[in-house]
Amino acid sequence: MLSYIIVILCSYIIGSIPSGLILGKTFWNVDLREYGSKNIGATNAWRTLGKLPGFIVFVADLLKGMIGVYLGMLLVGTSTAMIIGGIVAIIGHSLSLFLKFKGGKGVATGLGVIIMLMPTVSAIVFIIWLVIVMISKYVSLASIIAAICVPIFAFILGMPFEFVAFGVVAALFVIYRHKSNIGRLMNGTENKIKAGKR
Ligand code: G3P
Repeated sequence: MLSYIIVILCSYIIGSIPSGLILGKTFWNVDLREYGSKNIGATNAWRTLGKLPGFIVFVADLLKGMIGVYLGMLLVGTSTAMIIGGIVAIIGHSLSLFLKFKGGKGVATGLGVIIMLMPTVSAIVFIIWLVIVMISKYVSLASIIAAICVPIFAFILGMPFEFVAFGVVAALFVIYRHKSNIGRLMNGTENKIKAGKR
């Protein structure tokens, strides 16, 4: 029980670290919450600061999800604990302890979780995400479709029930976090991806 509590606390605190905000303010003197989509994630860092900052934020957010799962594996050692560590890291990223329970949309952190839990599924959905971004230039659209694909491919590839269930919960969470993007996609005002256009 104590191990589970430690996993939850540590994953939440690590997930809460607002990588994009810290990097933007420290190295570029830019608060991502004031530009573009106003999101603190990798997409808005790419859009606002440029390709390299966007990539760095993507890796930092991805690592938070991977660490959450790793903590579950290390401290408890069950797939349930790994899923809990991952989910809590995603929640921390989106409802950050350091940002008055505000935060990002959970896509890069969620990908980090899936890489650890279901590497093959993560590779498939990443390719789907990339293709949609390249064709449409809408990262949000790609993220929503990729999130929906996670439980579908987890099921098709015969992953354990709890991994498929995690995929459903994570997809619903990611879709919910994209509600403002969905509104913009519907009325044709969503930002297309273009690096470094502050
Ligand atoms: O991962 C977030 C992405 O799907 C959308 O980002 O900045 O366009 O709201 P943004």
